[in-house]
Amino acid sequence: MVSSSVTRRNFLQAAGMGAAAVWTPKAVKGYTRTEMSKFASGGPLEVGISKWDLDTPTLLVDLDKFEQNLKTMQTTVARNGIASRPHAKTHKCPAIARLQIDSGSVGICTAKVHEAQALFEHGVEQLLCTHANVTPYKIRQAMNLRKRCKSFIQAVDTEQNARELAEAAREAGILADVVVDVDPGGHRTGITAGAPALALAQLVDQLPTLRLRGLLCYDGASQHVHGFEKRKAQTLNTMEASAETCLLMKRAGLNTEIFSGGGTGSYNIDHETSGFTDVQVGSYVFMDAQYLAIGSVDNGEVYSDFAPSLTILTTVVNAQHEGVATADAGAKACTINQPYPIVMGETGISYTGRSDEFGKIVYDNPSRVYKVGEKLELIVSHCDPVVNLYDEIYGIRNDRVEVIWPIAARGYSYSS
Ligand SMILES: Cc1ncc(COP(=O)(O)O)c(C=O)c1O
Repeated sequence: MVSSSVTRRNFLQAAGMGAAAVWTPKAVKGYTRTEMSKFASGGPLEVGISKWDLDTPTLLVDLDKFEQNLKTMQTTVARNGIASRPHAKTHKCPAIARLQIDSGSVGICTAKVHEAQALFEHGVEQLLCTHANVTPYKIRQAMNLRKRCKSFIQAVDTEQNARELAEAAREAGILADVVVDVDPGGHRTGITAGAPALALAQLVDQLPTLRLRGLLCYDGASQHVHGFEKRKAQTLNTMEASAETCLLMKRAGLNTEIFSGGGTGSYNIDHETSGFTDVQVGSYVFMDAQYLAIGSVDNGEVYSDFAPSLTILTTVVNAQHEGVATADAGAKACTINQPYPIVMGETGISYTGRSDEFGKIVYDNPSRVYKVGEKLELIVSHCDPVVNLYDEIYGIRNDRVEVIWPIAARGYSYSS
């Protein structure tokens, strides 16, 4: 949620980055998804199609901003002596995962085993599933994936789950790589830090078909704490118990080559946790209104380390009433997350009150008003669930479509 100290105007001015200057109020041809799919060969698009010609609602990524985000992350983690292992729950897109690996990330995380399968089928290896699978079907799926993908790593958080995984690994005829998921205190997933986590790590180490690789601890509650110093204090305090667990494991002679966790809010903090090896950052590639609100080291109002590269392109469908207009991106295109999407590059315009199919534009001393048929771009509320609504993402450079990336693991939060 946006803090009251962070006004929408701050957001708009900081996050818009001049998009209004490149808006093209020309009659456009309009390309449907089906037409665009004819151009999609996986490589760069030869035909210079303007983003303003795309049918809406549609999902865009500004490639210059996206690439800068990758670079900022890699430069920072390298400087801090750790690595990145980006979380694909954000983008669910093999092309993006490959770019992350190519730019220096040591691996890719997934929340679900089916996401990992989809990425592997599209050429991504070095996969780590950050949560335990508890049903016999998913446990078998994970071990079958490990059979095909030699670098696949699976998290466990109970002794029973470790034994079930070991049995599935035996059936699959493999030695499976495993990390222990440690609960940071939020009780979402993970085993209690300290003696319980150590005992689980020892069990994994002893089971003949499992190979212990280390531990995870994802402190989700600290990621969106507003204000860098407050966020840093909370993160380091919360991570202390897992750092102690890491030390206990080391002293017991166990493998701690992986101590992974953190996210976009703590990427420049986690290296201060003793033994920590890599950040599981997700949102940094795209950013969103939720993250823009948290503030950074040198900007108390707006998180300016990463640029908002992800936008929804939407068309105005009704402009006949004073002070308001309607656009074609509603809850089904934007989700119902808060804070509301931000109208890119404009001031005095809010995008509120989403019904299923429509968004409401509200003017308050606006930098411009829209006519029916005109398009605008929205910085998304929360990137992960928005991406999960689309089949592909259009990579844009200088307002032209440069590439079309399928979101291959879209919807794979549930069973395949
Ligand atoms: C286990 C885990 N690791 C990493 C992340 C990435 O977080 P962020 O998008 O804040 O970078 C998440 C996000 O929910 C997560 O659940």
